[in-house]
Amino acid sequence: MSVQLNISFAKSSPLTNALAIQLALAGGEPASGIAEADPQGVGARAAGIAKFSAKAMTVLDVIAPHGSDADRLAVIGLGKADALVAYDWLRAGGTAAASLKAAKKAVVFLDVPGLDVTAEQAADFALGMLLRAYAFDAYKTKKKDDDEKPNVVDVKIVMAGHAAAKKAFAKAEAVAGGVVLARDLVNLPPNVLGPVEFADKAKELEKLGVTVEILTEKEMKKLGMGALLGVAQGSVRPPRLAVMHWNGGKAKEQPVAFIGKGVVFDTGGISIKPGAGMEDMKGDMGGAAAVIGLIHTLAARKAKVNAIGVLGLVENMPDGNAQRPGDIVTSMSGQTIEIINTDAEGRLVLGDALFYTKERFKPRFMVNLATLTGAIVVALGNAHAGLFSNDDALSAQLTAAGEATQEKLWRMPLGKEYDKIIDSRFADMKNSGGRQAGSITAAQFLKRFVGDTPWAHLDIAATALNSPQSEINQSWASGYGVRLLDELVRANYEG
Ligand code: BES
Ligand code: MN
Ligand code: ZN
Repeated sequence: MSVQLNISFAKSSPLTNALAIQLALAGGEPASGIAEADPQGVGARAAGIAKFSAKAMTVLDVIAPHGSDADRLAVIGLGKADALVAYDWLRAGGTAAASLKAAKKAVVFLDVPGLDVTAEQAADFALGMLLRAYAFDAYKTKKKDDDEKPNVVDVKIVMAGHAAAKKAFAKAEAVAGGVVLARDLVNLPPNVLGPVEFADKAKELEKLGVTVEILTEKEMKKLGMGALLGVAQGSVRPPRLAVMHWNGGKAKEQPVAFIGKGVVFDTGGISIKPGAGMEDMKGDMGGAAAVIGLIHTLAARKAKVNAIGVLGLVENMPDGNAQRPGDIVTSMSGQTIEIINTDAEGRLVLGDALFYTKERFKPRFMVNLATLTGAIVVALGNAHAGLFSNDDALSAQLTAAGEATQEKLWRMPLGKEYDKIIDSRFADMKNSGGRQAGSITAAQFLKRFVGDTPWAHLDIAATALNSPQSEINQSWASGYGVRLLDELVRANYEG
């Protein structure tokens, strides 16, 4: 079962029937609050016996001794103080959440001797707990033995600066909400989440004060979005374009804009994909999921920024009415595109979505996210998403946000040698340049729709889905991009 953590902050807390968690630096002393939970010094004795040296993210877990109110004691190692970075607080929180096991109540002593734990670090710790506790199990009807675990756990974080930490935690909860929303959408099966259902999810953000417009097929036809509509025409499920406005900044301030590829399922179309692993293509809306998650987060924490989120929502299916290789479509920009491969559909959706965003909003920048190419999986694996950009300053900001959140980016080249690969014999461009530099030619394609607007394309095909398990994520969908872009906005575009 997915566990709900009720996290609160206090100066002290009774330990009755609780798991007492403390943090320890390598070579340091354990937290002072634990003395009460461990009057006989069992923790210290166990640490000696188990050769526990508080290396980063290691756990010492013992039954509380006779005479203690607590049930269990857990010590989480932080490693060396001078090596600690912001992300380690999320990891520590995730590690704490994993050590809850059957506990119904946990008391976390966050004040570590030799370390001044800030409100932000405490909030990051709590965020790590929330993200680790996430599980997508709505469709599991049979309970397993380990589902004897409680589904609500009361977590008290005890620290001197608890009031400030509580305030910082409100923002962290907004981030958790955005990441969880993105993960849920990517995990959901494609029969349940079509373009219309996805647009409904965007509409739900109105509860947070977001203005949401949903464009239907008819409206997109009127706008001339022939590239997006060409992809959609093979599906019985009609496309949608969701436009979300969060107006937290000054009235006249130009917005920042985020655009997401929302292919709810990618069969490849007539250029159909092989069967093995095709089920993963339910996650081909990971870009759109990150954008809706980000807008959720910005609204929930009332970010002082004007932000636009645009989602291109379609399904790519083979059908009697599906588009063919050889077809030529006219995009909203007026540029024509020869379809070489109907499986190169994401760029068609994004070309129209980017051009629409640029023309209508004249944004300060556009960042698009897309599970765009298999080639980026080969090039970078899942340790970095690919970053392609026409703007060095924006690239530097994104790269820094990637380092801070550990949703890392690696910049890839663009250039005219790559651009000419997608020139077409019959139209202005073709939608596939073949095997060579597959991720770069896809980016060059997008670049043809952004004009002079500062723009970055993040290819998240390897980072949004099929995610490796980490301290803060055990789910197939990572929610990649939400923390990254929230940090981009927070660090550079607020106030
Ligand atoms: N959605 C895929 C890319 C993808 C692959 C996402 C693996 C997640 C995991 C995309 O639409 C696609 O099919 N790209 C093709 C492009 C090719 C036909 C030019 C690819 O990468 O093979
Ligand atoms: Mn495809
Ligand atoms: Zn795709």
